[in-house]
Amino acid sequence: AIAYVNGRYRPLREASVNVEDRGFQFGDGIYEVLYVHNHRLADAELHLARLTRSLGEIGLNLTLSPAALLVIIREVLRRNRVSTGLVYMQVTRGAARRDHPFPAVPVRPSLVITARTRPAPPTDIAAWAGSAITLPDERWARCDIKSTNLLPNVLARQKARLSGAYEAILHDSQGYVTEGAASNVWIVDAAGTLRTRPLGQEILPGCTRAAVLEILHGAGIAFAQTPFTLEALRGAREIFLTSATSFVKPITRLDGTSIGNGHPGPAATLLLERYLQHIG
Ligand code: PDD
Repeated sequence: AIAYVNGRYRPLREASVNVEDRGFQFGDGIYEVLYVHNHRLADAELHLARLTRSLGEIGLNLTLSPAALLVIIREVLRRNRVSTGLVYMQVTRGAARRDHPFPAVPVRPSLVITARTRPAPPTDIAAWAGSAITLPDERWARCDIKSTNLLPNVLARQKARLSGAYEAILHDSQGYVTEGAASNVWIVDAAGTLRTRPLGQEILPGCTRAAVLEILHGAGIAFAQTPFTLEALRGAREIFLTSATSFVKPITRLDGTSIGNGHPGPAATLLLERYLQHIG
């Protein structure tokens, strides 16, 4: 495998960054994960726009344009012979003597891009369904920034794995669902309304979420962007997640209890199908 690291393409095993890289020492960086299907990048413009926004929010100035980044992404895919899989890219504030404030003399940001093959989800939605646990959201107050600081997400997902679940669905101290540890959360509530939390600093503005909203608009399907409680989650007819790695993923068991009739519902089934068409 080949990795792009700061202007060079290197064998992954030999690729490295400085031990004083601020991404390594402080988590002072931004990342993106993109899915590529049959050489087509899914929602690339959305991912690159979000990267630009995240970088701006933390005052990190990457001189490479989104167009230049796309050229590098394509080259990483080509060199790794990846036609269907995942691209990982991360930008950090670079390497400097350890000190919390930004380096007084700006250093070159570090840019790393890797890619690996990963198949598309099975078209049989039952095989794609998974389970989740619920946990308090212990992250910071700017979850709209796609920061490489993922310790709370890592700990939540590890708890999920130890419980045999795919995802941890997080809730705030008032009992409202925020999002998954690495995905956005949707429900069809007990009254039949399709709901997802509105954007704000509590959640990541998911690119898959945005694409699904577009699909819903196009299909004339009603939905509400309103916060919902853990109670509504537990009583939902359907729960599903969206992310670049989950696509549209039905959650049929929550904290060990079946959701709805225990099978993927019509909303998730339709949206997975449409989303897979969308990414072509
Ligand atoms: N995670 N919320 C969080 C906290 C996420 O980490 C992600 C994505 C999403 C969904 O965003 P998108 O639809 O743009 O992938 C929501 C990526 C896949 C990851 O960390 O691997």
